[in-house]
Amino acid sequence: MPIFVRYFFTVKKSDAKKRIEELKELINTHNHNYYVLNSPVISDFEYDILMNELIELEKRFPQYQTQDSPTQKVGSDLSQADNGGERGGFRQYRHQYPMLSLGNTYDMTELYEFDRRIKKVADTPFTYNCELKFDGTAICLTYKEGRLFRALTRGDGTVGDDVTENVREIATIPQQLNAGSWPGQFEIRGEIYMPYKAFDRLNLQREADEDPPFANPRNAAAGSLKLQESSAVRERGLEATLYHLIAPDLNVTSQSEALKAASEWGLPVSEYARECRDIDQAVEYINMWDEKRRTLPFATDGIVIKVNQLELQRKLGFTAKSPRWATAYKFKPEEALTKVISIDYQVGRTGAVTPVANLEPVLLSGTVVKRATLHNGEQMEMLDIHIGDYVYVEKGGEIIPKITRVDLSKRSEGAVKASFPLYCPDCGTPLVKDPDEAKSFCPNSEGCPMQQKGKFLHFISRKAMNINAGEATIEQLYSKGFIRRLSDLYKLTPQQLLQLDKWKEKSVSNFLSSVEQSKERPFNRVLFALGIKYIGETTASSLASAFGSIDNLMNAGREELLQTEDVGEKLADSILDYFSNPDNLKLIAELKESGLKFAMEAGQVQRLSDSLNGKSIMITGVYSISREQMKAYIEAHGGKVASSVSSRTDYLLAGEKSGESKLKKAEKLGIPVISEDELYKMTNKNI
Ligand code: IVH
Repeated sequence: MPIFVRYFFTVKKSDAKKRIEELKELINTHNHNYYVLNSPVISDFEYDILMNELIELEKRFPQYQTQDSPTQKVGSDLSQADNGGERGGFRQYRHQYPMLSLGNTYDMTELYEFDRRIKKVADTPFTYNCELKFDGTAICLTYKEGRLFRALTRGDGTVGDDVTENVREIATIPQQLNAGSWPGQFEIRGEIYMPYKAFDRLNLQREADEDPPFANPRNAAAGSLKLQESSAVRERGLEATLYHLIAPDLNVTSQSEALKAASEWGLPVSEYARECRDIDQAVEYINMWDEKRRTLPFATDGIVIKVNQLELQRKLGFTAKSPRWATAYKFKPEEALTKVISIDYQVGRTGAVTPVANLEPVLLSGTVVKRATLHNGEQMEMLDIHIGDYVYVEKGGEIIPKITRVDLSKRSEGAVKASFPLYCPDCGTPLVKDPDEAKSFCPNSEGCPMQQKGKFLHFISRKAMNINAGEATIEQLYSKGFIRRLSDLYKLTPQQLLQLDKWKEKSVSNFLSSVEQSKERPFNRVLFALGIKYIGETTASSLASAFGSIDNLMNAGREELLQTEDVGEKLADSILDYFSNPDNLKLIAELKESGLKFAMEAGQVQRLSDSLNGKSIMITGVYSISREQMKAYIEAHGGKVASSVSSRTDYLLAGEKSGESKLKKAEKLGIPVISEDELYKMTNKNI
C-alpha cells in the first residue's frame, strides 16, 4: 500500500462519506483543468495522492461508491462548445474499442503485487515488455488499406474528438504505410508529445506575442493538437510515439512483435522499449530510466510494464478503467538543488502578496528554472528560509516551480533570515492577514498600482474577455494614466494608443478590434472577468446559468445564494460584499453601457419546444438523467432552472432523494411539486 494512504484506517464512517464527496468534486475539477483546459493547477503527484485517497476510501466504504466517481471513468479531454466558442469545432466519433487508462503506482513493492496477480492467472511462461511512459496526450489512429483514415483524442474514453486534419500535420505520422502485411483496417494508439526544444521555442514565441506560456510540454502538446487551424500545428514541432496496436486479425503473438511490425510499416515506435524476462529485470529497467530520463529530449513520467504475450493479455482482460495486464510505475517529481539569491513580493489582483524567490538558474525536467514560489509568509516561516540558502525546487502543475525544502547543511554562517514584509511592497499600505488564511493582503484595492494592473491582466486574459494584449501593454496604458477603471479599456482612442512604445496603426487597429470583439464574450466570461473574489472560471459558469443575468445575481439574498449549487458561505459573502460597493455597481453600469453581455442569451441552448415557456423550475433530487441533462432539457423547452425555491418559482421538480427543506418550502409557498414523469408529460415526451 502506498505510504500516503495509510492513515485512512482511522477514518470514521460519517467522515468518509463527506470526504468522498469532497474528493470527487476536487478530482473532477482537476480533471477539467487538466484534460479540457490544458491548464493543471496541481502536479500529477498531488493529483495521484487525491485519487489514491479516494480509491482507498471507496474500497473501505463501498456503500458510498457511485458510478459517476472519477475512480470509475477516465478523465475527459472532449472539447465543449464552452459558450465562448473557442473550444468547439471538432466532430466527435465513438471509439471502436474504449480507450482506457492505466493503473499506476509510485511504490515499487506494488509492482511485485502486480506480478503476483498475473502469475496466479498465467499457466504458461511469460515476459514483460517495458516501455517509457511518454508524457503527452493520447491519440488513436485508424489506418484503412494502409492510409491514415482518422485520428481521435481519448475524449471521455468512449467518444473522442476528431483531430485528423491536425494529426496530418505531424511529420512523423505517415499518411501512407510502407508496403507490408498490415491488416486492411487497424487501430494504433499512442501519445502525441512535444520535445523540450520545441516547447521552449513555443513559449519564447508566446512570451514575445504576450500570450500566456504553457505550463509544461504535455499541456502544450494537448493544446496544439486542438488548434482550430491545422496549418499552425506543423510549426508546433509535435512528435508521436505509438504503442498499442489493435486489430482482430493481427499476425503477431506479443506486444514486442506488434511494435516491431508497426515500426516496419513506417509508424513511429519508441526505440527504448525492452523485453524483460521477469519483474526483477523490469525493476532494473525502471531504475536505469529513473536516472537516465534526465538526458532524454522529451518528458517521461514513468515506465509502463505490459505483459508481453497477447494470449495472456486476453486472459487477464480489463477492469472498467484499465487493463489488468499493464501498469505504470510513475517517477517521483524531479527536484533540483539551487541557491536563493533574493525574494520578491508580488501583489496579485486580489491584493494577495506572494513571495517569489529568485534562484541561481538550474535545469529541472528539461527547462531552466530561475524563480520559484514560496506561496506565503507561513510557508516561509515553516521553511525558515534565509537569503543564500540552498533549496530544493520541484515543478507542480503551474508554470512557476515551488520550493519544497532547505538544505540546512549548506547554510552559510551569518545568513540573514528572510522576513515577510509588513507593508505592501508597491503602495506601502500596512498588510492585513485573515487568521483563517495563510496569505497576507494589501487592503488598498483601489489605489495599489500592482493590484490594479493585475485586475486588468485578469480582465483581458484568454479565459475572461480574451483581449489581445499582455503585461507590457497594460503596464504602459496604466503608467500613462489611460486606464484606471476596467471600463476605461472600452474608451481608449487611437490617439492614445499611438503614444505607446512602437505602436503603429496596425497594432492600434488590431488592439481596438480585439476590444470590440470582447463585447461578444458570453455572460459567464464577463462575470469571471470582473475578478470577484472566489469566482473562478467554473463558478462563473455555474452562477451564470443558475441566475441568468447580473441583475438576478445582484438581487439575490444570502439565503438564495446559499441554496445555489456550488455556492458556500465564503463565496456568498464575497458576492454580497462585491455588490454592496457602489463603485462596483457603477463599474457594471459603465461596462453595460459599453455593450458587454450581462445576461445569458437564449440562443445558448437549442430550443425543442415552448411548452415550459417562461416557467421557473427548481430542481432537487436524482433523476433518470443527470442534473446537467435535466437542466439542458428544461431550458430546451423554454423553461428556466431556478436557483432556489421562492415565490417566483413555478414548479419544484422532485426526483428521488429530494431535499427535505426544499419540499417543505415549496409546500409553504404553495408551489406545485412535480415528478420527472409529470415534467415529461408537460413536454410531451413519450415515456
Ligand atoms: S499503454 C490499454 N504505453 O499514459 C493500454 N500508455 O497514465 C493503455 N502512455 O493512457 C496504454 N506512454 O495515454 C501505454 N508506453 C505507453 C505509454 C502510455 C504513455 C499514456 C497513455 C495512458 C496513460 C496512463
